[in-house]
Amino acid sequence: MKGASPVGARTEQEAAAWVRAMFGRVAHRYDLANHLLSFGIDRLWRARTVRRVRPLLERPGARVLDICCGTGDLAVALQRACPRPVMGSDFCHPMLVAARGKMARQRIAPRLFEADALRLPLRDASLDLVTVAFGFRNLANYEDGLREMRRVLRPGGMAAILEFSQPSNGLFAALYGFYSGRVLPWIGGLLTGSRDAYLYLPESIRKFPTASTLAEDMRRAGFTTVSYQRLTGGIVALHVGEVAG
Ligand SMILES: C[S@@+](CC[C@H](N)C(=O)[O-])C[C@H]1O[C@@H](n2cnc3c(N)ncnc32)[C@H](O)[C@@H]1O
Repeated sequence: MKGASPVGARTEQEAAAWVRAMFGRVAHRYDLANHLLSFGIDRLWRARTVRRVRPLLERPGARVLDICCGTGDLAVALQRACPRPVMGSDFCHPMLVAARGKMARQRIAPRLFEADALRLPLRDASLDLVTVAFGFRNLANYEDGLREMRRVLRPGGMAAILEFSQPSNGLFAALYGFYSGRVLPWIGGLLTGSRDAYLYLPESIRKFPTASTLAEDMRRAGFTTVSYQRLTGGIVALHVGEVAG
């Protein structure tokens, strides 16, 4: 299973350092690149995630954490549907600075902290919901990531993973492959000045486990009632796993 393996990284520590530095370089233009390159569909994917986890958000006293929160788009969307404060964490400082600015502009009190998703500074069984959008694929060790999400969840809690996947339809997969492999690095590079980040993106998607493999890995990590939905022809998949209550 292992995890993200950017070109040149020989150890998990090197992979994590590469990922953190790369997001630090694109943080100032991350939202613009995201919305343009996805034609704005990324907002719908996050809205879909919020809908899926709404019962958890409405739970009295719900404790919710969005890991790998980046510039905070999912944390903000969750907060709008949750009466209790939603927390966000990430290990890339410039992304958190951007998230803080966004939340201030939207008059949302930020509850952000800097932390590695593989070593969260939280007690066992202390959360009702852990979410992650487009961050899981970047973890240096997927098994450790799932184990850590499972560790911090209470019985009856839920993990939701929104992540890129591989379209199953042949023609659509070919078109998407051309777009993500050729067009995206070029435009992403122009927008952010960091072409390597947008070369890494399709490569990391290609190496990422299929939706059914990820579901199996979640079961192995101790989640029960694991399910997933493919969105937008399978470009993205939303996995949820519950912790037996
Ligand atoms: C593609 S961005 C996604 C940001 C946001 N969740 C969104 O939906 O746009 C991935 C984020 O994961 C963070 N990340 C990657 N590995 C991490 C780790 N091990 N611990 C914490 N954050 C991590 C990166 O710093 C980056 O902000």
